[in-house]
Formats: sequence, C-alpha cells, structure tokens
Amino acid sequence: MRTQVAIIGAGPSGLLLGALLHKAGIDAVILEAKTPDYVLGRIRAGVLEQVCVDLLDEVGVGARMHREGLAHGGFDLAFGGQRHRIDMKTLTGGKQVMVYGQTEVTRDLMDDRAAKGLPTIYEAASVSLHDFDGAKPRVRWQKDGATHELECDFIAGCDGFHGVSRASVPESAIRHYERVYPFGWLGLLSDTPPVSHELIYTRHERGFALCSMRSMTRSRHYVQCSLDDKVENWSDERFWTELRRRLDPEAAERLVTGPSIEKSIAPLRSFVAEPMRFGRLFLAGDAAHIVPPTGAKGLNLAATDVGYLGRAIAEHYNEKSDAGIDSYSERCLRRIWRAERFSWWFTSLMHKFPETGEFGEKMQLAELDYLVNSVAASTAMAENYVGLPL
Ligand code: APR
Ligand code: PHB
Repeated sequence: MRTQVAIIGAGPSGLLLGALLHKAGIDAVILEAKTPDYVLGRIRAGVLEQVCVDLLDEVGVGARMHREGLAHGGFDLAFGGQRHRIDMKTLTGGKQVMVYGQTEVTRDLMDDRAAKGLPTIYEAASVSLHDFDGAKPRVRWQKDGATHELECDFIAGCDGFHGVSRASVPESAIRHYERVYPFGWLGLLSDTPPVSHELIYTRHERGFALCSMRSMTRSRHYVQCSLDDKVENWSDERFWTELRRRLDPEAAERLVTGPSIEKSIAPLRSFVAEPMRFGRLFLAGDAAHIVPPTGAKGLNLAATDVGYLGRAIAEHYNEKSDAGIDSYSERCLRRIWRAERFSWWFTSLMHKFPETGEFGEKMQLAELDYLVNSVAASTAMAENYVGLPL
C-alpha cells in the first residue's frame, strides 16, 4: 500500500490535516488505534479562536459550527465574591471566540471524511514508524490478525501525548520541557442551562471553578481537585455543592443542577517537545505539546500546527518548494511557547497552590485587582484569550 502522507491519529489534528491535504489534492491515509466511538467519547474544551474557525471553514466543515456554536465577546473573572467582565471584543477591536465543543469539531471532520470516502483505518494495533530519516518512510500496523505496511513520502504524528510518533524519535534528537501541576480538574457535563451567557472563571480559597457550556441547554462545569482524587468519590450532589460554594453569590443563586452525563478528572500539565520535525516525520498537536486547560488553547494550537503543516506539504508537491517544511518547527514553536506562557500564567493566577501559602494568595489577589482595573492589563489578557496573530 502506498500514499503520499501517512497520518497517525484520528483526533482533531489528524482529521483536520487530512481535510487540508485532500483540499490541496494530496493523498493521505489515517491510522487510528481506537474505534470512532471511543474517539468521540472524549470530552474536552470548547473555545475556538478565529484562526481555528477559519481553518474549519477553509475545509468546508464549518456549517454546523456556525449554526450551533455560540460567539462570545467576553468572559467573567470572579474573585472575592465578585465578578468582573473582560470585554474581549472591545479590548481587541472586535475579536471574539466561538464556543463549540471539541467533540463536535471531531464529529464534523469525521463525517466529512467518511462522506468523501477518504481512507481512515480504525483499530490499527501496534503502529510502528520506520525510516523517516531517509527518503522512503514506512508505517506498519496489525489488524485482523495480519501485519500491514504503508509506504509514504511523509509521516504526520498526530497521535496525542501518549502516541507512538514522539516515542519513535531517538532520545538524543529531542528535548522535552515539562511542568506538572499539583492538582487536577474534575469536570461534569449536564443538560442544564448555563449560569450565565458567558464563561465564568472563579478563583476561590477552596480552589478554582469554571462555569462553561456547550449550548444554552448543556453546561460544562469544573472544580479544581486533588491529584489523587477519584471520580467515584464525587457523587453529582457533592460536585454541585462544592461548585456552589466556590461561586460568587449571584452565580451560586442562578446555578441549575441536574444529573451528570459525563464526569472525569484530568491532570494539568505544561509540556513542549523540541523540535517538531525529524527528517520526514512531523509532530503536530498534543503529540508535541500540552497546555493546562485554563484558557482552552489545546485545540487551537493543534489547529494552527496542522494549518502550517498542510500548507508546507502542499507547497512541497504543488510548488516544488520545501521552505514551509524547513520552517515548520520554528514557526509552530514560536506560537506554542506564547500559548504555553498564557496558559501557565492563567493557571497560576486562578488556582489554589498548596506550596505558595498566604503570600501567594495575596499576590494572586493583587494581580487580579490590577488585571480588572487596568485597561493595559485587561487588553493583554483579552489579546491572548482570543488568540495571538499567526
Ligand atoms: N497509533 C494510532 N493512533 C494513536 C496511537 C497509536 N499508537 N496513539 C494514540 N493514537 C490516537 C488516539 O487514540 C487519538 O484518537 O491519536 C489520537 C490523538 O488525538 P488527541 O489526543 O485528541 O490529540 P490531537 O488530535 O493532537 O488533539 C489535540 O486534544 O487534548 C486535546 O487539548 C487538546 O484540544 C487539543 C486536542
Ligand atoms: C470547556 O468548556 O470545557 C472549557 C472552556 C474554557 C476553558 C477550559 C474548558 O478554559
């Protein structure tokens, strides 16, 4: 079997890259370890920057997002029992974000790929990458009791943080930067109306809380929890009680509770692997970097990586230029480090850090006070939240 680009992983990165390559007339095969239902069962953040919206429009899968997604021009920061609105739209000269779940983005891309009859091999076991340092890379996998092999020109490692692509690079060729935070987020999805029409990020002595949404009838809420906590320890009732205690009085009053549809704990991590290109292997999305979810940059970074990669590969075939391929890693990493900085800063500002003590708490409150009362500081935050220019 032969293709031009072998894509490892059918998450949002792999699927969007597949769509971009198809649009440029380039063949690709996607290999995915899990089933489509498993991929669609993962609940993740849902705030899209304009660059991400534009890429989905570019490949023609934006219709449902524009119909069902919610354009947000601001969000609230809550602390000391009070809420303060960050008016992103005014502060950035008209920019907004789109609230639309990552699961829905994945579903739209998956349906489009299936409708076009483009090849995706699900339940591909023991995927292995070969010879990407030479001119003829190959990918092997097991399925239905047989070993299969795909010859290609390029391999795109879109297989997430735990994937095989990054792990296939010799240790001496790659450098990792990492920060693991001493807490997690417990998330609950429910068919209840959101507390407010915009997101509320709350800093509280008991820990961070976030009121988010998927639609005006479906809410997504989070509370900071300890790393060794288990979902089984959190009945829905315990979750709602804890969330209500952390919210400002008005939000607590408006909170509508109901049975959970999904509940899960995610650890928080900042991680970057450098570089992102190794001969004919490219890493993209979570395979190369992780941000803590505060500010919802994960999917947006994944989308811009594959935006750059799709264009670079198209230039290689259609314009016989490798300029985009040669600058891929550097271009991505510049954007990634700026989003890493914002996500780390926003996380540090809003969470309870056991080790920083009362002095740390006073620093957070002083910074929040400055942030909501200074146009310069609010503008810096708004610019990062809507997404820095490419
Ligand atoms: N072989 C084939 N597929 C694999 C392998 C493997 N060895 N390992 C992992 N995969 C698949 C996973 O099953 C998953 O479907 O790769 C896919 C990677 O998808 P994601 O983890 O969603 O990563 P990515 O597409 O880069 O999306 C980034 O996800 O975590 C969020 O915040 C992040 O929103 C961002 C987005
Ligand atoms: C979400 O809706 O899941 C969400 C929104 C904003 C974030 C993180 C998660 O910063």
